[in-house]
Parts: sequence; structure tokens; C-alpha cells
Amino acid sequence: MTVQTQSVIDVRGITRSYTMGEETLQVLKGIDLQIHPGEFLAIMGPSGSGKSTLMNILGCLDQPTAGEYYLDGADVSKVSERDLAKIRNRKIGFVFQNYNLLKRTSALKQVELPLVYAGVGNRTPRAKEALAAVGLQERMGHLPTELSGGQQQRVAIARALVTEPSIIMADEATGNLDSRSGQEVLGIFQRLNRERGITIIFITHDPWTARHTRRLVMLRDGKVVADSPIEQPLDAATSQRPSEAEELESIFQTTYYGGKKEEYA
Ligand SMILES: Nc1ncnc2c1ncn2[C@@H]1O[C@H](COP(=O)(O)OP(=O)(O)O)[C@@H](O)[C@H]1O
Ligand SMILES: [Mg+2]
Repeated sequence: MTVQTQSVIDVRGITRSYTMGEETLQVLKGIDLQIHPGEFLAIMGPSGSGKSTLMNILGCLDQPTAGEYYLDGADVSKVSERDLAKIRNRKIGFVFQNYNLLKRTSALKQVELPLVYAGVGNRTPRAKEALAAVGLQERMGHLPTELSGGQQQRVAIARALVTEPSIIMADEATGNLDSRSGQEVLGIFQRLNRERGITIIFITHDPWTARHTRRLVMLRDGKVVADSPIEQPLDAATSQRPSEAEELESIFQTTYYGGKKEEYA
């Protein structure tokens, strides 16, 4: 007998349209997606394909125009705004491209903030633990301006982590970082997934980044056009991004040669 784990996220026929004046723009055109607890998946697709729109719905920041969304088995596609916020705060952490940190607030206070909203006590020890988990135990009193981009993003990850969500959604979380900081941040996500079993949905336009996850979902024009496991995910602790020259070579290879380079010599 096979044991079927219940999906943590189960969306069926999700659409999302925006109406502007007389025109209706259909951004998501019927998305089906099931995600199991502990998965680490990348959502890729060209700019404008609907990745952020989909993430906002999966993250209970927005609701679909039509379709069903079961989060941990409960239908959340039609609940009130207020209930949606409660569900979101309890289950989901977010990390964005621009960190979204408060300018004049120390790392420690930023990370305590979600606990304030959740009305949870024991805030400082919990925030310290979350900052230590992203390697920032020495930087707790720093303001964002006193931190590098990579460190700011780590504060944002600690802030997402502090409420102990079962799911973290990251929208281009490494998009503003240099390769080294990006790699570090990616390593943190891999560790959180591996060691704490947190389900991670990682939106990226970068194929190299996506290869560090375990499943790749491709969006195009508001539809899922591919969905497959990544057979040998890279480990951020050891992987080396190919040089620009190698990357170009490989693009040329697939685009122009389509076979062995020697054949064209
Ligand atoms: N609030 C909105 N109102 C109108 N159009 C929107 C809104 N949000 C997104 N769109 C449109 O939906 C499409 C997909 O956007 P988005 O989900 O941000 O794509 P991606 O994240 O893949 O770049 C774009 O054409 C965008 O202009
Ligand atoms: Mg986007």
C-alpha cells in the first residue's frame, strides 16, 4: 500500500483577472498545483508570466478570481480577508527581493515584530534564536544601513522564520544579491528545508538558482507549462556558478550548435 501524504497546498483551476476600465486582463489562466509538506520547489517563468500573482494567492495575500485553494486541507479560496490574514500569519513566512525592512529599526526589533502582531510572548529569545539560525548573532543591534545586502536578506529570513511557519515563500529572494551573498542565502533556504522540514516555494528567473531546489514548475502566460523533479539538485555549500564564459558557451551550445561543437568546426 502506498501512503499518500496530504498536500499542504492544493490549487485547482485557479484563475486571476484584473479589470481595468472596460478591459479584463487574465493573468492566471487555470493553475493546478499540488505541493507536499517538506518540498522545496522553484517557480520559474519570464517576466509577466504571473509568478508573483500566483505567489500572492498561494501566500493568502490575495484571492483567486475562480478556482479552489486548499491549504492544509481547508478551502481558503473564499474565506474573509480577516480569516485569510490569520491563516497567513500562522502558517506562512515571506521573503521578498527588496528585503522590506524598516529603515530605523534594529535587526532584533525587526525580527520581533511578527511576534508582536501575533500577540506572542517570549519575543526577544525567539528573535535571537531566529537571527542565530541565519548566522547573524553578532549583528542583532545593527540597522539595515549598517548591513550588507546579503545580511539584510538574512534578517528578512529570520523575520519570516520567527513565527515558525510551515511554509516559506520567497519571491526573487536572491535577485538583488551578488553571486556570493546569493549563494549564502540559498544555502540558508536549503538548510531550513533539510533540517526543519519547512516547505519552500522559491520564485526565481535564474536557472542556476533553480537547480538548487528539488522541483521545477515553469509558468508561461499564466499557465503551468512544465512541472518536474530536479534529479540532482546542487548544494549551495559546494556548488560553483559557472563563469560567464562557460555559461555563454553552454547557451551557444544549446541554441546554435544543438550537438557537439566539433561537428560544426
Ligand atoms: N494589480 C494588478 N493590476 C493589473 N495588472 C496586474 C496587477 N498585478 C499584476 N498585473 C499584471 O499581471 C501580469 C503578471 O504579473 P506578475 O504576476 O507580477 O508577473 P511576474 O511576477 O511573473 O513577473 C503582468 O502583465 C502584470 O502587469
Ligand atoms: Mg514578479
